[in-house]
Amino acid sequence: MGYDRPDDHPYPDDLAPLLADHVFPALPAGSRAFDVDAIRGCFPALSNGTAYFDGPGGSQTPTVVADAIRDALLRPLSNRGNTTIAARNAEEIVVQCRLALGDLLNADPDEVIFGRSMTALTFDLARTLSAQWRAGDEIVVTRLDHDANVRPWVIAAAAAGAIVRWVDFDPATSELPVQNVEAQLSARTRVVAVTAASNLIGTMPDVRAIAALTHAAGALLYVDGVHYTAHHAVNFRNLGADFFGCSPYKFLGPHCGVVVGKRDVLAELRPDKLLPATDRVPERFEHGTLPYELMAGTTAAVDFLTAMTSSAGTRRDRLVASMSALGHHEDTLRQRIEAGLHQLPGVTIHSRARQRTPTLLITFAGRDAAEISAVLAQNGINAPAGSFYAYEASRRLGLGEAGGVRVGLAPYNIADEVDRLIRLLAENVR
Ligand SMILES: Cc1ncc(COP(=O)(O)O)c(C=O)c1O
Repeated sequence: MGYDRPDDHPYPDDLAPLLADHVFPALPAGSRAFDVDAIRGCFPALSNGTAYFDGPGGSQTPTVVADAIRDALLRPLSNRGNTTIAARNAEEIVVQCRLALGDLLNADPDEVIFGRSMTALTFDLARTLSAQWRAGDEIVVTRLDHDANVRPWVIAAAAAGAIVRWVDFDPATSELPVQNVEAQLSARTRVVAVTAASNLIGTMPDVRAIAALTHAAGALLYVDGVHYTAHHAVNFRNLGADFFGCSPYKFLGPHCGVVVGKRDVLAELRPDKLLPATDRVPERFEHGTLPYELMAGTTAAVDFLTAMTSSAGTRRDRLVASMSALGHHEDTLRQRIEAGLHQLPGVTIHSRARQRTPTLLITFAGRDAAEISAVLAQNGINAPAGSFYAYEASRRLGLGEAGGVRVGLAPYNIADEVDRLIRLLAENVR
């Protein structure tokens, strides 16, 4: 592997080149379309033959991401600063990670808040935002969202005496119409929390339209982009959201969370913080010492996504091109799964929205989803069953806690795996 390791490179006096173009040895350079075989070669976990359709829960990890984490830890590393190489390495990791996430999401590096998980960051931001709420203020949440973008707001509202307004989706179409959000807005609305894509059924609401309505009502928009970011290029500047959360472990990176927030909105907020900790944005939103190794891994994941295809321009340009090729790859496979499922008796696909990610929630007449998922697992196919913390959505679909089998796609999935999945289901749902 070409990644420069500490053992074959003496440490330079200036900043070590922690992450550079050469982190993708397994993907040949030059003009390159989306080459799924080359991409698969970068994931050691695929070597056991397992078909991973559990990407929406967490993706597999390419070697370069693991290497970046390892190298960050094995190089000289200390708290951030500029006096020693160790301090400068830490500083450089943070700078590079904010730049990478800025490119990934089309946000400014100083709008990037790094944290333990999207859930933890959302709890923190809900507490901070709700400090400004008064009794009788209103917040808007949806029944489509993962609970990480519901409960923090509901809990904060209860503490502030604010009213919770619920936006419903249509189980028949899987759609969350913009009008349903509009109907819950008022002059008292302070925050609207909505997903960019459902991790249960893939629905992608029209976030831009929701942002316009939210702002017209004088409220802030908090978008859960955890599921969306794994499948589409995000354009935070263009989206109109005030906050957008994502989780690197869903897009080939390590287990951590990120929220970007508009600079002028962040400037107004006063999160709880330690007295000696900096008051700068975004650092004042990041409690304690940053996880440098996870930040290095996150940068490597962004670079890996960027390098899935080869095109010209800035990293942002190349990333957008790469994500578009990924979208085409995943869409083709999704259609193949759907065509196969439609041939099977007693199968219901609950993912029906016009705009959706390649994430299919499936139930089987007279069969437990968990039982089907276990059969798949015994045959080397990972497609778990459940409601996946989309607590309200699963209930709204009438599926309760049991939910369904979720088949989700990631960059490394291939047609052969889809065919194995359909064959196995055909043998088991007759
Ligand atoms: C759509 C969605 N939102 C939020 C989360 C929570 O993310 P985290 O694990 O970073 O807290 C998940 C995790 O599965 C998710 O799928």
